[in-house]
Amino acid sequence: MIWDLKIKNGTIVSGTDIYKADVYVKNGKIGAITSEILAGDVNEQIDVGGNYLLPGLIDTHVHSRDPGPTYKEDFSYSSQAAAAGGITTIFEMPNTTPPVSNGKNFDNQKENLQAKAYVDFGLWAICIGSLNNTNIKELHEKGVIGFKFFWGYAVHKETFQLMYNYKPGMDNVIPPFDDGEVYEMMEEVAKTGKIFAVHAESNELIQKLTARVEKQGGRTYQDLLKGRPNLVEVLTVKKGIEMAKATGVRFHVLHVSSKEAVEAVREAKQQGVPVTVETCPHYLFLSDEDYEKVGPQMKVYPPVKYKKDQDAIWKGIADGTISHVCSDHAPHTEEEKDGDLWSIPAGMCGVESMVPLMLNAVNEGKIEITDIVRLLAEEPAKLFDVYPRKGAIQIGADADFTIVDMKKKSVIKRENLHSKSKVTAFDGFKVTGMPIQTIVRGKTIMKDGIIVGEKGYGKLVTPVNHSPGVHSS
Ligand code: DOR
Ligand code: ZN
Repeated sequence: MIWDLKIKNGTIVSGTDIYKADVYVKNGKIGAITSEILAGDVNEQIDVGGNYLLPGLIDTHVHSRDPGPTYKEDFSYSSQAAAAGGITTIFEMPNTTPPVSNGKNFDNQKENLQAKAYVDFGLWAICIGSLNNTNIKELHEKGVIGFKFFWGYAVHKETFQLMYNYKPGMDNVIPPFDDGEVYEMMEEVAKTGKIFAVHAESNELIQKLTARVEKQGGRTYQDLLKGRPNLVEVLTVKKGIEMAKATGVRFHVLHVSSKEAVEAVREAKQQGVPVTVETCPHYLFLSDEDYEKVGPQMKVYPPVKYKKDQDAIWKGIADGTISHVCSDHAPHTEEEKDGDLWSIPAGMCGVESMVPLMLNAVNEGKIEITDIVRLLAEEPAKLFDVYPRKGAIQIGADADFTIVDMKKKSVIKRENLHSKSKVTAFDGFKVTGMPIQTIVRGKTIMKDGIIVGEKGYGKLVTPVNHSPGVHSS
C-alpha cells in the first residue's frame, strides 16, 4: 500500500470527543485512523504538532454574487477567503443573475463555480413562487443542497437581485410573495424531502413601521431597529412553523437574530415540528451597542439587535436549539456601504472571519472546541445530508481537515481579507485561535494564511436524497 498522505501528531476533535491518532489518506478519502504505524510507504506527511485536527469546516451560507454583481465579489475570491478562514466546503446562495431557479441554470452555475473553486461547494436553489414551482423537482434531482426563500424581500424583475430598501410602487420589481404563494412553495419543496430555508422578516410590518419612523425623521441605527423590531422576525418564523406543520416541509430559519425567534423554534422543536435554525457571528459577537464604533458596515438583514437577543442566541447554541453557525457572507463594495444607513445595501463579508471569531470564543470559555466541530461541521453536514462524506473524521469520508492553533494570536484586518470587497464589522478585532491549514480531499489549500491550492480544484457536493418526510436530524 502507498498512502498519499499521513497526518501525524494531531489531536483529533469530533462533536463529542478529543483523542490522539494519526490519519492516513488515499485517493482523497480517509483510509485509516490509528495510533499504530501502518505498513507501506507514505508520499506526504503533515505534522500537526499537537494542534487540533478538525473535520473540514463548512459554511452553509455564502453569497458570492457570481454570476451577476461580480464587482462586489466572485467565486474565486470568496473560495480563497473560505480557504484562508479554515473552510473546506461552501454552500453557495442562489441570488445570482441568473438565479439558480431551474435545471439549466443549475448546470451553468455548477460549471461556472467549478472553474473558480478552491474549496468544495454545494448549490442552493431559489424559490420564486409560480415562476419556478414547476422546477423544484428537477432542481432537487440535480442535487441542490436545499431551497432558499427570501421571505419579506422584493426582487428585481430581470436580475432577481434583492431590493434592500424596497417601497411598494417601485418599478421593475417582483413584490414580496403572499402567504398563499409561500404555502404552495412549501408544498412543492415538501415533496423533495429537502430543506426549505427562509430569510424571515415580515415585509408588511417593515413597511408600516419604517414609514412611521421615516415620517418622524428618524435615520439612526435605533430607528432602523424600530422599523424592523424583533416582532418582524418572530411573526414570520411562527407563520412558517405553522405552515411547516401543515405541509410537512423541513423548515429552516436562516440567520436568527432575536430572542423571540429562538424561543419560538425551541418550543416548536419540543413539539416535534421539523424545524431548525442557524445563526451567524455578527449576532453572536455584536449588538446595537457596537454601532457607534462600527458604523454602517454593520448593516445586515435581519439587523443585529440588542444584548438580550445576543444572550438568548448564545443560550440557543448551548442547549442545541440552534443547529449550526454560518457566515452569511454578503459582500458589497466599500462605496456602496459608505452612505446613508437608509439607502445602503445590507450585508458584509464573513466567510474568512467566522472560524477565527468562533475559536476566540472557545478561548474565552463561551464554548468548547468540540462545539466548534458540532456547529461548523457535524450538524450542518447532517442537516443538509452530506454527512459523513463531509463533516466527520471517519474512514471513508472525504479527507477534509482544518488544523487550528488555539494559541495563535491575530487581528482581523480588512486589508488582509481575501474577498474582493473588504467590508467587515470586525476590522481591528483581536482573536486568539486561528486556522493554520486547510486541507480539501487530501490536498493542502491554505497553509499559515497563504493560499497554496489551485483554482478549479473544488468540486460540487450533492446531498444524499431522502424520501419526503424522512430526514437525518
Ligand atoms: O444582509 C443581508 N445581505 N441579508 C440578506 O438577507 C441578503 C444578503 C445579501 O445577499 O446581500
Ligand atoms: Zn444570506
